[in-house]
Amino acid sequence: MTVLESRADEQLTPRTSDKFSFGLWTVGWPGTDPFGVATRPPLDPVEAVHRLAELGAYGVTFHDDDVFAFGSSDAERRHAVDRLTAALDASGLVVPMVTTNLFSHPVFKDGGFTSNDRAVRRFALRKVLRNLDLAAELGAQTFVMWGGREGSEYDSAKDVQAALARYREAVDMLCQYVIDQGIDIRFAIEPKPNEPRGDILLPTVGHALAFIETLARPEMVGVNPETGHEQMAGLNFTHGIAQALYSGKLFHIDLNGQRGIKFDQDLVFGHGDLANAFALVDLLEHGAPGGGPAYSGPRHFDYKPSRTEDADGVWASAAANMRMYLLLRQRAAAFRADPAVREAMAAAKVDELREPTLSTGETYRDLLADPTAYETFDADAYFGGHGCGFVALNQLAIEHLLGAR
Ligand code: GCO
Ligand code: MN
Ligand code: MN
Repeated sequence: MTVLESRADEQLTPRTSDKFSFGLWTVGWPGTDPFGVATRPPLDPVEAVHRLAELGAYGVTFHDDDVFAFGSSDAERRHAVDRLTAALDASGLVVPMVTTNLFSHPVFKDGGFTSNDRAVRRFALRKVLRNLDLAAELGAQTFVMWGGREGSEYDSAKDVQAALARYREAVDMLCQYVIDQGIDIRFAIEPKPNEPRGDILLPTVGHALAFIETLARPEMVGVNPETGHEQMAGLNFTHGIAQALYSGKLFHIDLNGQRGIKFDQDLVFGHGDLANAFALVDLLEHGAPGGGPAYSGPRHFDYKPSRTEDADGVWASAAANMRMYLLLRQRAAAFRADPAVREAMAAAKVDELREPTLSTGETYRDLLADPTAYETFDADAYFGGHGCGFVALNQLAIEHLLGAR
């Protein structure tokens, strides 16, 4: 191996400092879907921890029910948690995030926090409180709330405003609990437009950000956007992430792949819209072109090893997520460092957008008094002139993505 080859190899080896994490439910998915039974045997969480550690991950995340079955006694729960903690200690993996399953059991058929049935809502809150204690015990910094069953199929059957009020009531109570118990954790809402419900509440990053502002303690709550979920709604994931960063709300992220507006594919990261994944990694790693907040939290993969794969395929796909991220990180660094890219960005006035539209201290009166802004400004010159140069810039981006530069 040449020096250059071994350097490239090093850059593509997952390390603890890369903060790659996986849900136990990802590698543990046995392949059940609405049309078919499992194609793989169940995976012991202890094995998952050890295998992921060997592959270079730094953390695992889970729902309560991934570790101990719904309805477990305190003793069964303790036993399962102790087994997991022993595996974590032995492997050195951490638990940066915990989440609650409020979607699998029949009791949650109409949701947890927003079920029409008040007794179900109270039960859901108790399940989450119990799980928050576990998250605190394991030192998780983020508590994700994915409301997959919070929604409806029929407009007549759900009072959406009441449901949002109940959602707010639930999150406000959970924040109060965390404050009172002195637990150092933040909440992250995970949007999704549909599936399993026909329509899910808080369907996109934008909806979630607006909802958070209605809470009693908005500073304790952010978002956990998932690549495929925004793309299921036909939205640009990287734009959603940029807005979450702009709002200081990117508390966590679920990376995976999705090909267009269809069911939730949960493919390997980068195996969906690759160009958008490149732009995303560039943003997460470097921040906006002019700097600005980049993301320093876990790079969490929430994918499903395809139903076609056996155990070897499961681990190959887990490794593929990390390798895709590292490849894109390498390509994004080359893109940023390329003088031709900087030139193309300047030509495209990407930097000029950071310049405030009004000068320091300038008011609307000054703007009204400035003839160059209107009276003598040549708007017609934009017909057949003043091309933006965006395509040339994007061609450079794609060439870097392809390794052609
Ligand atoms: C999905 C969701 C879920 C959640 C997870 C965390 O694919 O629809 O991403 O996997 O992320 O349940 O609560
Ligand atoms: Mn998903
Ligand atoms: Mn997810």
